Amino acid sequence: MALCFHSVMSAAGDEDAASRLFELANAPAVAFRTAGGAEVSIRQDPANSTTGGCVWETAYLLAQWVEREIESGRGRWGRRWKAHLCGTGPAVRCLEVGAGCGLLGVALAHAGGDVTLTETADAMRNLEWNVEHNPLPPTCRGSVAARRLHWGDPADIQAAVSNGPFDLLLGTDVIYCASLVEPLLQTLQQCMHTHSTCWLCCQVRCPDSHEAMMRLAPKYFRTVNTRDLSGFMYAEELECFLLELRLPLNAVEKGVDAVREKKRSSPREKAEQRGRARKRTRREDGKEAAWGAIKT
Ligand SMILES: C[S@@+](CC[C@H](N)C(=O)[O-])C[C@H]1O[C@@H](n2cnc3c(N)ncnc32)[C@H](O)[C@@H]1O
Repeated sequence: MALCFHSVMSAAGDEDAASRLFELANAPAVAFRTAGGAEVSIRQDPANSTTGGCVWETAYLLAQWVEREIESGRGRWGRRWKAHLCGTGPAVRCLEVGAGCGLLGVALAHAGGDVTLTETADAMRNLEWNVEHNPLPPTCRGSVAARRLHWGDPADIQAAVSNGPFDLLLGTDVIYCASLVEPLLQTLQQCMHTHSTCWLCCQVRCPDSHEAMMRLAPKYFRTVNTRDLSGFMYAEELECFLLELRLPLNAVEKGVDAVREKKRSSPREKAEQRGRARKRTRREDGKEAAWGAIKT
């Protein structure tokens, strides 16, 4: 019998969120209801030798945060996802890295995403079991698949890339071992295109790994934002935050963008664009300086 996330979290009692989540992590299976009313049931696997044997706190958090973006139709991906649900746009293609038991990816597929969940070979059996045992109803606009993706493994990355392109890359609790940070960053970078966004929901478990992530991420990504989740569910109590990564535009796309601008702009618009570009340069200088301070 699966322990329901929503019932445990909303039950009366003095326990804090951490104790309730501990109870969930120790159940043989957990149930989660999507905003659209679908119920997924996820088997946990305490015998699994990897950390992927249970659903971690940030998986529930990111699932609900993405659903809130979809419902509100906010931001680029919320708008695109909503358009797909209304039948007026393509599906948002998601790749989840280090998916563990698969709660986040399976829930988002039920919410209409086109989701590929990935894991190491050791965690694949339970992940595949969960994908198989949570079939999407015929009315669902999503799709779901599971495949092996060991961070930094060229063959796995190549196979994942050929299955893309992916719009949204997602990961929860994947920053906990300093030696895995660079292979993870390489994998994310190679699986993204210039308009993709990566959201990693983090809880600082290992300060060295987080320091490595913040130091190395600007080597791979133009945008490295930390988004405060305070006020959202138990994010504050458990000190969870969202790390948002985006790539630089490549030369070809910059050229295409520039041509589009040229065709469209009147002299007045051009003057405004020059003003915006100056502001952007100042902001980026500021960001560089901030990262410089972290690096030293
Ligand atoms: C702390 S668990 C988080 C699992 C899941 N994302 C969640 O929040 O419930 C970290 C996950 O990263 C996966 N992982 C660790 N090293 C990996 C690697 N080199 N390549 C791919 N996945 C890896 C583990 O198997 C594990 O499932």
